Amino acid sequence: MAEALKITANASKADIYEEIVPQISSLIEGEDNLIANLANIAAVLNTAFGHLWTGFYIRSGERLVLGPFQGPIACTTIPLKPQARGVCGAAAAQKKTIVVPDVEKFPGHIACSSESKSEIVVPLVANGETELVLDVDSRELNTFDATDAKYLELVIALIKARHFKGVAADAVKRKR
Ligand code: SME
Repeated sequence: MAEALKITANASKADIYEEIVPQISSLIEGEDNLIANLANIAAVLNTAFGHLWTGFYIRSGERLVLGPFQGPIACTTIPLKPQARGVCGAAAAQKKTIVVPDVEKFPGHIACSSESKSEIVVPLVANGETELVLDVDSRELNTFDATDAKYLELVIALIKARHFKGVAADAVKRKR
């Protein structure tokens, strides 16, 4: 059974990330199922920061499909081709983190909720392909900065190490 989360009240954003990243690492260590791990990670981030929406979109062919999340109901599909849509689509296509201080100023932003004011999207790129994105939406403007980008990229690196590395090597091993 999972242990209770430990989050110090009134700590700085960086300190909260420092506290939760190792806990995320141990949470996903013993579980092979991607969806289970993404679900718990969305729960940890939501418990730690309580933003409007925290969750994942997983690539399925030429679209992103809604994955585990915490928050209001959201769009189920985001097209990647012929044109990538929204902040999620742009981060997936550009294969880099995008911080949006004001979503109304981002051309093509997909407003799943009118309450969303700023946003960060971090892609997980494996073997040159975006496999999923982590999307966090805030009720306030200018919420996300380089600290969020750094630590959320660390969270993505943990997911990548757990689920998207050594896939080829494993397949070769299984064939033997
Ligand atoms: N705003 C995102 C869509 C996803 S939701 O906000 C949950 C976008 O522009 O890609």
